[in-house]
Amino acid sequence: MRSTPALRALRRETRVSVEDFIHPIFVVKDRAAAGPIAAMPSIVRLRLEELDREIETISSLGIKSVLLFGIPTRKDALASAAVAEDGIVSQAIRRIRKQARDLVLITDVCMCSYTDHGHCGIVRGEIIDNDQTIECLAKMAVSHGKAGADLVAPSAMMDGQVAAIRGALDAAGLTDTGILSYAVKYASAFYGPFREAADSKPAFGDRRSYQMDSANAREALSEARIDLDEGADMIMVKPALPYLDVIRRVRDAFPYAPLAAYQVSGEYSMIKAAAANGWLNERDVALESLTAIKRAGADVLITYFAKDAARWLAG
Ligand code: PBG
Repeated sequence: MRSTPALRALRRETRVSVEDFIHPIFVVKDRAAAGPIAAMPSIVRLRLEELDREIETISSLGIKSVLLFGIPTRKDALASAAVAEDGIVSQAIRRIRKQARDLVLITDVCMCSYTDHGHCGIVRGEIIDNDQTIECLAKMAVSHGKAGADLVAPSAMMDGQVAAIRGALDAAGLTDTGILSYAVKYASAFYGPFREAADSKPAFGDRRSYQMDSANAREALSEARIDLDEGADMIMVKPALPYLDVIRRVRDAFPYAPLAAYQVSGEYSMIKAAAANGWLNERDVALESLTAIKRAGADVLITYFAKDAARWLAG
C-alpha cells in the first residue's frame, strides 16, 4: 500500500487543506510600529491601509479565515485602547469587511498588547484582578462584534471570561457573534517571538498565575469543559506541536466540539531559523507539522505558514 503515490493517497488518513487554516494578522495604527518582525521572518505588522493588499493575497490563495491582533498607539494600565468603541481592531474589521464579505473575521480578545505592563489583565499591585478583567474583555468583545467580527477569541485565561463575553454579546443584541475560546492555553516559552510582534512582554513576573502549567494534561479537560459549558462555539489548544497529546485528549473527551490548534510563533520561528541555515526543509517540515497537528485531532489550524502552505498544497 506504499509502493506508489496513488496507493499512498488511498491509504492516507489525514489531509491538510487550505480550508483548515486561520491566518493571524497584526494590525497597527502607527507608521512607526509597522513593518517586519525580526523574530518572525516574513510576518509583518500592517497599517490599516496595507490590509487591502494582504486580504487580496489571502483570499486569492483560498484562505477563508483570519485572526486579528491589534497593537494600539497608546498603552496604559487600564488597557483603555482595548475597550474603545472604535479601536484599531474594529477599524480593521470594518475595512476588511468592505473588501471581503465572506472572509471569516476572528479577533483576539486580550489585554496584553494594550496594557503598559504587558499582562493579560488589569493589575492590582502585582496581582491580576480576574473579575475586573473579564468586564473589560466583555466590552472589548462587544466592540469587535459591533464592528462585524464573526467570532471573538478570548485568550486572557481569566476564569469566567467566556460566560462574561457571551452575556455581554447577547445583551448587546449580538446573538450571532460566536466565541472561539483559547480554552487550553499553556504558559509557554514558545510565545517568545509573538511578544516582540505584539510588544507585550510582561514588565514584571510572568503569566503562570493565569496560563496553564505545561506539565498538566488532565487539567486541559477541565478547562475545555468549563468553556464549552460557558458557551464557547469552538475551543482551542495552544501551543500545538509540543502538546499533541493534549489535542488528542481534548478531541476524544469532546468529540462534538469544533477544535482548533494554534501553531504559535515559536513553533514557526524554529522552523524558519533552521530552514534559513539550510538545516531543515521548510516546506516539508511545516507540512509535516501541520499534518501531525491535524492527525492528533485538530479540525482547524491557526498558523503563520497559512499563505505558504496554501501555495505548497496547490502544488
Ligand atoms: C494574547 C496572545 C498571545 C498569543 C496569542 N494571543 C501571547 C501570550 O499569551 O503571551 C501567542 C501567539 C503566538 O505565540 O503566536 N494573550
